[in-house]
This record gives sequence, C-alpha cells and structure tokens, in this order.
Amino acid sequence: MAQLWGGRFTKETDRLVYNFNASISFDKKFYAQDIKGSIAHVAMLAKQGILSNEEQEQITAGLNSILHDVNEGNLEISDTYEDIHSFVEATLIDRIGDAGKKLHTGRSRNDQVALDMKLYTRDEVTEVDGLLKELLRVLLRIMKENTETAMPGFTHLQKAQPITLAHHMGAYFEMFKRDRSRMRDIFERMNECPLGSGALAGTTYPLDREYTAELLGFREATRNSMDSVSDRDYLIEFLSAMSTVMMHLSRFSEEIIIWNSNEYRFVEIDDAFSTGSSIMPQKKNPDIAELVRGKTGRVYGALMSLLTTMKGLPLAYNKDMQEDKELVFDAIDTTKGCLALFTGMLNTMNFNSAVMETSARNGFTNATDAADYLVNHGVPFRDAHGIVGRLVLRCIEKNIALDDMSLDEFQSVSSVFQEDIYEAISMETCINKRVTAGAPGRKAMESAIAVYEKYLAE
Ligand code: ARG
Repeated sequence: MAQLWGGRFTKETDRLVYNFNASISFDKKFYAQDIKGSIAHVAMLAKQGILSNEEQEQITAGLNSILHDVNEGNLEISDTYEDIHSFVEATLIDRIGDAGKKLHTGRSRNDQVALDMKLYTRDEVTEVDGLLKELLRVLLRIMKENTETAMPGFTHLQKAQPITLAHHMGAYFEMFKRDRSRMRDIFERMNECPLGSGALAGTTYPLDREYTAELLGFREATRNSMDSVSDRDYLIEFLSAMSTVMMHLSRFSEEIIIWNSNEYRFVEIDDAFSTGSSIMPQKKNPDIAELVRGKTGRVYGALMSLLTTMKGLPLAYNKDMQEDKELVFDAIDTTKGCLALFTGMLNTMNFNSAVMETSARNGFTNATDAADYLVNHGVPFRDAHGIVGRLVLRCIEKNIALDDMSLDEFQSVSSVFQEDIYEAISMETCINKRVTAGAPGRKAMESAIAVYEKYLAE
C-alpha cells in the first residue's frame, strides 16, 4: 500500500478499505495529463520564487523521465499506489530525492484531479469533434453523388412524399453538424484552469494562477476555488452531448437496419462491415448498426449516473466525485468507437438507387402533388384532398399507381384534370418543384451542398 498521507493515523488502512478507496486502476489513464500539469505547476512555483530554478529543473527532468519511461513501456504504473497522483509523486521522490518532496507545494489532489480530468476531457472533446467531421465528409460525398437519386420520404414509417437520397443524408448532416457545435461550446466553457484552487480555499503561497493557465493552454484561470474543485458540469455537458451523438447514430442505425432488410433492399452493407450466422448459412447481418444502436444506452446511463452522483453533494470536494471517471472514460471510448465504425460502414455501403426509385414510385408519394395540381387550377385544398383520396382508393382496388390511371379515369372524379396531370405528378416534377430552402429540389439541394462544402473546408 502506497499513499501520500498517514501521519495522523495510528493504524494501517484496512485492506478492503484501501482497495475500495483506490482509483489507480482507472485514473492511470491520465498519467500524461497529470505529469504535464505538474510540470506547469513547478514552472509557476519557480517563477514566483517558491521553488529555486535548480529545484524546478530537477523536478521537471524527473517528471519527464517518468513520462518517457511510461510511454516507452519501461515503467509500469503499479496498482499498489492509491491513485495516479501518488504514483507520480512517489516515483519522482524515488528518482530525484528531496526536491521531489516539494512538488505538491501549494496544491491539493482536489485541484490536481480537477485539472487532470479537464486536460483529458478537453483533448477528447477535440477527438470526438474530429470523428464527427470525418462522418460529415462521408455524408457530403454521398449527398453530392445522389442529388438525383429518388427515394420515398417517410412519416410514421409510411411512404409520404418523394425525396432524394441526398436530402435524406442532408438531414443527418445537419444533426452531426449541430453535434460539432455542441463540442465547440463545451470546449469554450470548460477551458478555464482550476489549478491553484488548492483543497477548496486556495493557498497562502503567492501563486500566479493565470501563468499556469497560460502554460496549459487554458483561456484563463477559474474564479472561485470552491467551484473549481467541485465542478463536474463540463463532464455532464460532454456526456449529454455524446448522448445526443449516440441518439443520432442510433436513429441512423435503425434506418440502415430497415433499409438493409430483405423487404427493403435500399442498401447493402459491405461484407467487411457485416457478420454471419453460426447456423443459417444465408445470413448477412447488420451487427455493427445494431451494436451502435445498442451501445447508446450505455452512454445515456453514464449521463444519468453522474447527474445522480452530483445531485446531493454539498460544497466543495467529496469523494463521490471519483465516480465520474470510469463513467466518462467508458462513454468516450464507446462514442468514439461507434463514430469510427459507423463512418466506415457508411463509407462502404452500397445504395440501390433503382430499388429506392421504384419504391418512391409505388405508394402514392405523389398524391400531395396531385392535390396541389387541383389547387393550382382553382380547387380549394380541402376539396382537392378529398378528390385525390378517392382516386387513391380506386388505384388501390386496381393495384396501380396514380400515374397509371387513364385521363378518363382522372376526369371521372374531377373534370379539372387535364393531360398535363401526368407531368405534374411525375417523380422528376415532384422532387424538383420542391424549391423552398431546405427542400429536396435540385436547386435547394445544390445550395445546401455549397454551404456544407464551405463549412467543411473551414
Ligand atoms: N482519486 C480522487 C478523485 O478521483 C482524487 C482526489 C482525492 N482527494 C481527496 N481528498 N481524497 O476524485
């Protein structure tokens, strides 16, 4: 058992207590951030005359040697230490002697862990953002290739109106673009340095907190030491933003699972991203999409868990907060893994445009356009709706599409219909007449694509 305290105790810590309390098994994940924070801390201590330059040099060299050796696999972070902070400090003292004992001057593990977790999270927010950008690139490519690929748009999972594959992908582009802007917001809001807040009430040493903040790439230092050591809002925000990413991925996965089914055949997932069955030789399953959908619950669970952990905590630091780490680490790994796999699956997926188009032609997706035709010829919309409804009923009885009706049949329901009805309800017209901004029509789509291109180039 190796811990940083013990002077005021008369007994050894119970073995079970030690294990229950220890966090090294998971907080070793941010050893690099812990060392980086310590190097900045001693640079500030030396600048303020609290440590000598020689001490700073010794400590910095010692810390760098630990970082190097862990990176190279020459130094194992042993689980016998209470936490990563204890491991680094004890190893430093081992290596450089007395100067190492001055590392923790003007610092507590409370502001130290707050810093480490922030440094770690800040990098991960950037990584998630990068993965989202990759996904957007694939989406934009598919959009550019499919502005003419007709498919049915659905409401209630019932065919509604014709759209294009580009338009459908554009909806996801918007969702993941919003996800990126959430990452940017989180980064900005969390980018304040807690180091120098001490256990909760700052310190009596003349620390230059703005200097440490600057060395560590933070916008500024935090302004209240009690909040600094007990704030986990940025983790809750990140978990919430990742939950939203996962919700988007899960909806998309659900669509791909449906589209990949034998009944739909809108898409075929690449062999490299599909799996087989141990008993049914014919099977090719969309396991990746299903797993992404399934893992969404884990990330939601982490968010609920941390919110619940925090809700009853008095100021300032409480050990409950140690529970933030495993949850957040798991949510980050899950979200990043899902983003990378989903992007790979989407990038290699084959879209059956012929099947999509046939599906758009069947199912009366042009019924609204037939009603609009009547409206354009002076029929009130509500009457037009009724007329086309009756036409659809006839088509269903005859098992044909609206386009297959003869002009006589059209006119037997309303004399307003003329020969140009066929052009008015053709797939081409239905899609490209939809010119409102944000609609699937070619013009609207092309301007959306231009905006997205510019956005990704930035
Ligand atoms: N392992 C602790 C955590 O994750 C570090 C802070 C410990 N502070 C303390 N007063 N016990 O929160």
